[in-house]
Amino acid sequence: MPEIDLLNEPCSEGVAIVIFGVTGDLARRKLMPALYENAKNNQLPDPFYILGFARRPWSHEKMRNVLRDGVMEYGRTSPVDEDVLDSLLENSYYVQSTFQDIEGYRKLDEALDRVGVQNTLFYLASPPGWYSVIVDNIGKSKLETCADGWRRIVVEKPFGRDLDTALDLDSKLHAVFREDQIYRMDHYLGKETVQNILAFRFGNGIFEPLWNRKYIDHIQITMAETEGVGTRAGYYEKSGVIRDVFQNHLLQLLTLTAMEAPVVFNEKAVRDEKVKVLKSIGKITGDAALENTCRAQYVSGTIDGQRVPSYRDEPDVDPNSTTETFMAARLFVNNWRWAGVPFYLRSGKRLPRRITEIAIQYTQIPLSLFGQRNLAGEAPNVLVLQIQPDEGISMFLGAKVPGGVMRIEPVRMRFSYAEAFGGEPPEAYERLLLDCMLGDATLFTRSDEVEEAWRLTNGIIEAWEAQDFQNLPVYEAGTMGPQCARDFIHKDGREWREI
Ligand code: BG6
Repeated sequence: MPEIDLLNEPCSEGVAIVIFGVTGDLARRKLMPALYENAKNNQLPDPFYILGFARRPWSHEKMRNVLRDGVMEYGRTSPVDEDVLDSLLENSYYVQSTFQDIEGYRKLDEALDRVGVQNTLFYLASPPGWYSVIVDNIGKSKLETCADGWRRIVVEKPFGRDLDTALDLDSKLHAVFREDQIYRMDHYLGKETVQNILAFRFGNGIFEPLWNRKYIDHIQITMAETEGVGTRAGYYEKSGVIRDVFQNHLLQLLTLTAMEAPVVFNEKAVRDEKVKVLKSIGKITGDAALENTCRAQYVSGTIDGQRVPSYRDEPDVDPNSTTETFMAARLFVNNWRWAGVPFYLRSGKRLPRRITEIAIQYTQIPLSLFGQRNLAGEAPNVLVLQIQPDEGISMFLGAKVPGGVMRIEPVRMRFSYAEAFGGEPPEAYERLLLDCMLGDATLFTRSDEVEEAWRLTNGIIEAWEAQDFQNLPVYEAGTMGPQCARDFIHKDGREWREI
């Protein structure tokens, strides 16, 4: 992470961001609201231009209106400052072209000339199937370099759909861009609370001695969502939870929790340590992959009092779909710090609550002194890093209930972001977009990291694919996932945390 105070030191030279696929959801829901917040906080370079590139026959005005609506609907802060938004949109232009048409890239080049800034951030916000075509055409049009400034490219996840396609995408990217020009976006890394895992671990002395196999019984990482597949069936059907969030967000949370302290706090050192964690997990294949994972699909149920349909009845989902919407896994990080400590990971759609957390369960006390009067249980010490919502950190302890009897009950010590720092933390995209412009790749995934994450994920996918898909377990929407996930952790004599 940069040592620069982003709030006070905006990038000093002009920048243009070129959004490929500007007509899609990502631009409207995430990119534009984040750019608006950055503009409001005076963090954007001056001048700053937005060039949208897409196929639909839109005018500049139409694009500006859609992006404006995006800020109005999805902006993090309100009321919207119309002056800031107007001046951001005044400097935005639309280039209409298909992604294959080389002529479109010539028009883009002209548009870049016209706005007159050299530093350019290409953002791949198109459907992933187009990434290679776009990169190839950027190369053919020689847009990846400029005489006096930088050119960078942001690649939104997914980076491929398995190891081979990820390697293929990487070689296409590297045929045009150097690795230091490539920013692979996993928005989880931009979340304040995810960055805080590192601050918490390496900015405090008291946790390090307790952060290992001697004191930690196991770790649970949960990413639960109430949303279903929504309108994204086209993508999700081919992806499932394993490609959608396990290969990236969940493994990122695991690596930040398990990594060693980097030698210095820079992009190389931090990413080197993360890669080592993934290498220590290694590849899990065949029976080992089946024994250490479970997957399921939601059927209709009730969430927040609302009846919701089965996955197979969602729009554009194959009525015989075998795509998993829930998975759980047990992984071991085979190094001196973690050998023998299970990391249980789970994620699913249509669960009862939206919550992402990392729970560190400390070991049992060696000898129970309070017997029946210990209502906190013998291992009440759980440290929970709550990534979202209600961002914060909690420690669960056993404490004596006031009175003449020695009775122990569980209590919670809590740090809350909102209380300590006021308001909500910024959106991940706000931070990550600024980092690309400043040239800091610490919070982006390096090619070897993506490759290792796929190597691990691929082993599981291959084992699943070799199984009889018709027997995919199901879970009712609004419940905490399938029975197989409970059986899975019970085998180890443990329980999932209630969320
Ligand atoms: C995306 C996945 O990467 O992350 C979605 O494609 C998921 O399926 C989303 O819903 C969750 O992000 P967040 O920030 O809401 O936790």
